[in-house]
Amino acid sequence: MAKVTLKTLADMKLSGEKFTSLTAYDSTFSNLASSNGVEVILVGDSLGNVVQGQNSTVPVTVEDMCYHTRCVASAAGDAMVMADLPFASYATEEQALMNAAQLMRAGAEIIKIEGEGWLPPIVTRLKQQGIPVCVHMGLTPQFVNVLGGYRVQGREEEKANNMIRAAMDLQEAGAAMLLLECVPADLAREITKAVSIPVIGIGAGVDTDAQVLVVYDMLNLTAGRKPKFVKNYITDGETPQQAVANYVAEVKAGTFPAEEHIFQ
Ligand code: KIV
Repeated sequence: MAKVTLKTLADMKLSGEKFTSLTAYDSTFSNLASSNGVEVILVGDSLGNVVQGQNSTVPVTVEDMCYHTRCVASAAGDAMVMADLPFASYATEEQALMNAAQLMRAGAEIIKIEGEGWLPPIVTRLKQQGIPVCVHMGLTPQFVNVLGGYRVQGREEEKANNMIRAAMDLQEAGAAMLLLECVPADLAREITKAVSIPVIGIGAGVDTDAQVLVVYDMLNLTAGRKPKFVKNYITDGETPQQAVANYVAEVKAGTFPAEEHIFQ
C-alpha cells in the first residue's frame, strides 16, 4: 500500500472503491491494522472504555490522546493516523487549535471532532492552520449525557434533514471527512451522496464510502453485549491477522455490514 493521504481517499470515493478504518491504541494493534490493508487507523477516544475501563469517553484527556497517538503513529506504516480530540477540548476555536496541534505533533495526520451545527468555524480555523478535520455526526458518544443514552440518531424527518444540511455546511467549512455513527442506512446513503468528501460509517449501513470498527470488538476481545453493528471476525479459529484481512476484504466487497448490522 502506498502512503494514504486525503487525495488517496478522495480518489477512492470518486472511483467507488471502499476503504477501511479500524481503531488502535498502541503500536502492536497499529501494525496489525496497517500490515493487513487498513487505510485509516483511528486513535479513538473509545480508549476510555476499552483501555481505561471507564463507562464513557467523557473522562479521556488530551494527554491520554497524545500518549496513545504517539504509540499508534510509531507503527502505522502507510496508513493514515486519525486521532480524536476528546470531550470538551474544542469548545472554542483557540482551544481546538491548541489541542489539535498537540495531537498533530504526536503523530496524527487528521483529527476528529464530534458535533454538527456549531462546528463550521472550528473546522475552518483548523484547516487554515494545516489541520484536516473529520466530523463525527449522528451518535456522538462525548455527548451521551445530553443525548440521554446511546441511541440511533436521525430517525425523525426534521432531525434527518438537519443532519443533511449540517453535513453540507461542514463540507463548505472545509471538513476533510465525515463519520456517521448509528444513523439509519437511508439517511447515511443520502448524506454520502450529498457531499464530495469521504464518509465513514459505523452502524450507518453499507452505502458509506468506508467503514470503521473498534478493533477489540471485531476481534471479540470485549466483554458483554456488543452493539448491533459489530461483527465478530474471530469465529472459526482465525488469527487476528486473518480477521483484519477478512474485515478489509468484506468492506471492499460491500458484504460488511450485512442486513443484521444495519439500522433501517
Ligand atoms: O472513539 C472511537 O473509537 C470512535 C469510533 C467508534 C468511530 O469514534
